[in-house]
Amino acid sequence: MLGRMLKDLFASKVRLPGQIDFEAGVEAYKAGKLAVAAEHFAGTLRAEPEHVHAHNYAGGIDLRTGRFREALEHFERGRVLDPQNTECHFGAAVAHRELGANEAARECCETALALDPGLHPAHGFLASLNFPGPFYLEVIAMFHSHLRPRTYLEIGVETGQSIALARRETRAIGIDPEPKITQGLAPGTSIHATTSDEYFAAHDVRAEFGGLPIDLAFIDGMHQFEFALRDFINLEKHCTSRSTMLIHDCYPLSRHTAERERRTAFWSGDIWRLVLLLRKYRPDLSVKVIGTAPTGLGMVRGLDPDSRVLQEKYDAIVGEFLALDYSVLDADKPGMLALFPNDWERIKAILQ
Ligand SMILES: C[S@@+](CC[C@H](N)C(=O)[O-])C[C@H]1O[C@@H](n2cnc3c(N)ncnc32)[C@H](O)[C@@H]1O
Repeated sequence: MLGRMLKDLFASKVRLPGQIDFEAGVEAYKAGKLAVAAEHFAGTLRAEPEHVHAHNYAGGIDLRTGRFREALEHFERGRVLDPQNTECHFGAAVAHRELGANEAARECCETALALDPGLHPAHGFLASLNFPGPFYLEVIAMFHSHLRPRTYLEIGVETGQSIALARRETRAIGIDPEPKITQGLAPGTSIHATTSDEYFAAHDVRAEFGGLPIDLAFIDGMHQFEFALRDFINLEKHCTSRSTMLIHDCYPLSRHTAERERRTAFWSGDIWRLVLLLRKYRPDLSVKVIGTAPTGLGMVRGLDPDSRVLQEKYDAIVGEFLALDYSVLDADKPGMLALFPNDWERIKAILQ
């Protein structure tokens, strides 16, 4: 009899009370019945205090219901019980931040990412810890309302989140080989479904803007730096010394998310190389990278439509900067990438 019971137990035919509670908890959690689920997970943990998944679920419910200290206790217990469990580390990071302990939050988040470099929410979380303040879309909206550009050209529109920020009075052109516009766009906006290289080869930008230069541009297309470099060269020809060029993803979060080939959902590519090359080969430009989440917003001023330096040296420059390893940034990432505070008053002062 005892032998049969043990055999069933090991074959999982007999479930322990803690397991029964756990399964009921998961079911209730999935159905959105958080209070019921919490009861079940508490039952699981009474029967099996070392049940890591129950700690994670219980911690997750505490996070969702604003019980941050209790959440942290669950995740910290989980971290001790199973140091390889990324959920415990990431849950602890979120709880720490809610409790105002940003450094502890960063440490837990980095541990989670070391275990699972592709953990998407952890990337966004770390980016918002690094760069508090307005998100890049809010910063772009401020550029539009402050500069009131007559013309705006955006490379890489995707769903239209950023081009939708163009004002009604602005003539806007968006370029993207695969636009998936879901946002309402201002009446003066047109979208071209093509790559930026093809667009510039086939269109006269100034003519499309009724003879006006580009007042404001945003480069956010292909995330390999030579594409962004060509976009820069092609756009600058249609700018004036008073135009502003914005470039997304200039301040990478990590080596992993800055690879040239996309390996993570959160991906900034190697646009950082463009910042280094502009600073080296175009010292006449004002190049700053605003510290806005997720990965910095380059702001280039003092543009010169007659400059041919980048075009003439294109192959050599691309080779030179392609040869750089990400570790060059170790020397002084903020200094090398010209990091600028995400403070609109200070940004505005540069726009005079
Ligand atoms: C990160 S998304 C743009 C996001 C958008 N600017 C925003 O802030 O919401 C990048 C977009 O670049 C587009 N893209 C990729 N290669 C491109 C190219 N060669 N020229 C123009 N756009 C490109 C992709 O199709 C994608 O929609």
